[in-house]
Formats: sequence, C-alpha cells, structure tokens
Amino acid sequence: MAASYGPRALACVLTGTGSDGTMGASAIKSRGGTVIVEDPEHAEFKGMPESVVASGSVDFVLPLGEICRRDLWIGGGQATMTKPEVENTEDQDLEDLLAFIRDSRGFDFTGYKRSSLGRRVRKRMTDVGMDDYVDYRDRLESSAEEFRHLFDTILINVTDFFRDADAWSFLQSDVVPELVASLDPSEEIRVWSAGCSSGEEAYSLAIIFAEILGAEAYLNRVKIYGTDVDEDALREARAGLYSSNALKGLPEDLRKNYFEPSGTQFAFRSDLRRRVIFGRHDITSDAPISRLNLLVCRNTMMYFNVETQSQIIERFHFALQEGSHLFLGKAEMLLSDGNRFEAVNMRQRIFRRRPGDVWTANHTASIKLSTMAATSMWGSTRNVRWAIWPSRKRRSRCCGSTSTASSPDSTASPARCSG
Ligand SMILES: C[S@@+](CC[C@H](N)C(=O)[O-])C[C@H]1O[C@@H](n2cnc3c(N)ncnc32)[C@H](O)[C@@H]1O
Repeated sequence: MAASYGPRALACVLTGTGSDGTMGASAIKSRGGTVIVEDPEHAEFKGMPESVVASGSVDFVLPLGEICRRDLWIGGGQATMTKPEVENTEDQDLEDLLAFIRDSRGFDFTGYKRSSLGRRVRKRMTDVGMDDYVDYRDRLESSAEEFRHLFDTILINVTDFFRDADAWSFLQSDVVPELVASLDPSEEIRVWSAGCSSGEEAYSLAIIFAEILGAEAYLNRVKIYGTDVDEDALREARAGLYSSNALKGLPEDLRKNYFEPSGTQFAFRSDLRRRVIFGRHDITSDAPISRLNLLVCRNTMMYFNVETQSQIIERFHFALQEGSHLFLGKAEMLLSDGNRFEAVNMRQRIFRRRPGDVWTANHTASIKLSTMAATSMWGSTRNVRWAIWPSRKRRSRCCGSTSTASSPDSTASPARCSG
C-alpha cells in the first residue's frame, strides 16, 4: 500500500495488543502517507496504538469518535487543517454567535472544539431561559454581565496542586534536575505555566524549583510566568490564597513549608511568590513568552481544534530554548513529523524541543497535535522580555474597549487592556 499509493495512503491503527501495525505505519509515513492512531488512553487495549505512537510514525492520535470525522479522511488528512464543517442550522447559529462575540468583545472562541463549546453555550442559554441564538445574542449585546457569565461557563478552571501526581513526580525527579544541571549556576531559569487558571500549577512549579535549588537560588534565578485569559482566575492566582481543602492533597511538609495561615485560608509563601508573575495572555493570539527553559500547558490545549492546536504548538516551539521541555496534560498528545519535539516520557506527556528551525513565515503546521479526549495584560510585570514574534497587526478588544497592537517585539512593551 505504501509503495503503490505513497502520499495518498492512509492507515488507521485501533485498539489491540502487541505491536501490530507499527511497521506498516512506518512504511506509510516514510512515503508521505498519513497515519491515524486511536488514542491509547481511550483504547480498550493500548499495546498497538502505543507502539505506533512510540515509533513516531503517526500524524494524529485521536479518540475513536474523532477518528470518524469525515474531513480527516478526505485528502490524506490535509483537510483537518480546515475549519470544521457547519452541519446544520443550529451549528450555523453557533458560528454566528461566536463571530459576534469575537467582533464585539475581542474574545475569539472560534478555535475551540465545537462539541464542548456548543454544549456550554447552550447550557448558559438554558440557565437564562433562552433557546434562540438570536435572542441570546441580543441579550449579550445589551449586557456585559451576561457576557461575563457566558465566559465563566465556557472557560473551565478546574485545577489542582500537582494535578496528575505521577507526571509531576517525573518532572521533579528527572526533568528539573536535568534542566538545572544543564545551566550555569548564575543563569536565569524561565518557566511558563500557560492556562494556569487560579495559580495552583504555577505555585506547584515554584515548590519544585525551591525544593531542588533551595530558596535562595530559587529567588535569585527562577522566574515563573502564569498566564490565562480568565481575569477572575488570575485574580485568585495573584492573591495566592487557598482553602485547606485545596491543599489537602499536598504532603504535610510541603503544606508547612510553603503556605502560611491567613485568616481561614492559607497563603503561598510571600517571599517565593515574588518570582511568580501572573498576566493575561491568550495562547491562540498573543505573542509567546520567550527563551523558556520549561513550558507547562496542561489541560488547556484539549479545548481547541486541531488547526488551532497546531498554531499554539508553533508558538510554543518558538518560545522554548533548544533542548527545553514542554509538559502537556494527560489527555493531550503532541506528535512531530517535522522533528521539532521528541518524546521524553510519552506517558507523562513530556517532550523536548529539538534544536533547529524556529519559524518560517510560510510554515504550515508540520506539528500535528491532537487531543485525546487580546492582548496581554501584565499586572505587576516590568521588564518582560518579548520574543521577536513575526509582526502582525492585531485588533483586540477587551470587555468593550478596542485597541490595535502589533505583536510585541524584543523592544516593545506588551499592550495593555484594562477591561
Ligand atoms: C482546565 S484549566 C487547566 C488549569 C491547569 N493548567 C491544570 O492543568 O490544572 C484550563 C484553563 O485554560 C484557560 N484557557 C482557555 N482558553 C485559553 C486561551 N485561549 N488562552 C489562555 N488560557 C486559556 C482557562 O481559562 C482555564 O483556566
């Protein structure tokens, strides 16, 4: 098949034991074909899909439901890079609503997967007793408050300290020590938690670095950026105050060493908090933070469609220094057919950025990332160093106010928006 059909061949490996399919997938990939694999996390038997994924001869890792998508099978997988099809009137109504939200409020949800997004929009409409999209749009037009409620319903802020303990353990035992050993003791360590929600992930990173480096070196060297689009979540993150319930999964010694009682709550240690900087940042449109040693983006990318995920990964590749690590969520997968990332630990979703090409203007998403399942506002940050991200005029509007900003370059300050 690989020899006869070359780039027109398409293979799909589903549940099964052993390594059947791996050699075939390699043959098809080596001749430019497309390989789709059932997400091992969802497969009844993980062996076959895992074996193909480990070989790297794969373009898409998807849950069964998504493998059935028609656009995946047309044109040797190329069609996945196009917008999802609009299948019925309700879908068209949703598209119109998303376009309205983008144009009037500057929040672009068009890159989010339609299935869960549609469910959430409909949930909010039901909550306010509406079933007509046009009526709901009128409501949004006249009520900033309703827009905030919708935004809260769409953005899922579920998080935890050291969420998925095994993966964090590997980060602490293998990745961070290697990172630290690779740098001169005087060098800065730059870490980004993208989609940080209310801050638990960023503070988990602070704890790991403080544990490994000691508090003094941590304070001298480490800078952790925590970003999200959700201002309410960021407010909580900046406060760094958590209930005893939120800390209950932490070992006693970490709770004692890193949190101080504050009224009925617990505050993350104020000295260490100084090195954790929170700001608003949209991973789909804002210029990435640059020269990173570690980028953590967990349980966020899975909300986006394949095309948007590819664009995000392109930004992340640009943001990371060569050899640095990218840590994704359990339900997320990154696959490289451009040799840009290698899997360090596939099970824990930890990847290393390979040396080489950073950005070409016409680069068309050679990374395919699949899931299994405005403008920046830097509250307290000064001297944020921005990468030279390809300049592009961007119109952004936040909570009603409009600003025009080109992507930041190494000298520009990030645009602000006080909405
Ligand atoms: C489920 S939480 C994940 C939190 C944390 N990373 C974790 O794994 O525990 C997803 C977060 O992604 C944020 N998010 C959604 N869209 C985003 C975007 N375009 N840019 C940045 N953050 C986004 C949401 O506001 C939410 O806080």
